[in-house]
Amino acid sequence: MELLSAIAQRSSTRSYTGEELTAEELDTLLTAGLQAPTATNRQELHFTVLAGDDPVLFAIQEAMGARMRPEKNFWYDAPTVIVISGERDFRWTAVDAGIAVENIALAAEGLGLGNVILGCLKAAMDADTGGSFAKTLGFPEGYTFQIAIAVGRKAAGKEPHTYDREKQVTIAGLEGLRAFQCQ
Ligand SMILES: Cc1cc2nc3c(=O)[nH]c(=O)nc-3n(C[C@H](O)[C@H](O)[C@H](O)COP(=O)(O)O)c2cc1C
Repeated sequence: MELLSAIAQRSSTRSYTGEELTAEELDTLLTAGLQAPTATNRQELHFTVLAGDDPVLFAIQEAMGARMRPEKNFWYDAPTVIVISGERDFRWTAVDAGIAVENIALAAEGLGLGNVILGCLKAAMDADTGGSFAKTLGFPEGYTFQIAIAVGRKAAGKEPHTYDREKQVTIAGLEGLRAFQCQ
């Protein structure tokens, strides 16, 4: 699939078949994450791969509390969850993690896989001051949770979101650019 098609067609999947990813698919996703740019090429991110039935996911779900629970579990029974952690004290870690997770999302889309970015566990991860989740998830020393992504085969799709170009885009500067109409 062409890159621009993957960008245009990507949408969050919240319903998965139980089918596992193949080793090749998982490798493609992780490679996409590792190929993402990082500020000053610091490469300060770590990727933890979990099966959808890993007990730590259920423990995190429990720690999130009832208020945060979606109708299913927070990874929507996806067969694979990738948790991205990063250096706590580097200025650009959150941005770099966001870029990496989108690289993974687009790679998943390119493979025809469903995916959903997961931030809802952040409060529970940040509250884990004893570092028990971080330890179980294999975060390197000094790394904290940044973002996660669930991936699997789509059981149900969703249209890409709509957007308000007028509200979100300003074309400033040259007169010629002011007349520019985004398609
Ligand atoms: C940083 C971030 C965190 C998100 N966290 C969650 C989440 O915890 N649970 C969830 O179901 N979707 C989550 N999403 C998915 C958004 O809800 C989704 O991208 C948005 O509604 C637009 O829909 P689309 O992805 O289908 O275009 C998150 C997305 C981003 C970018």
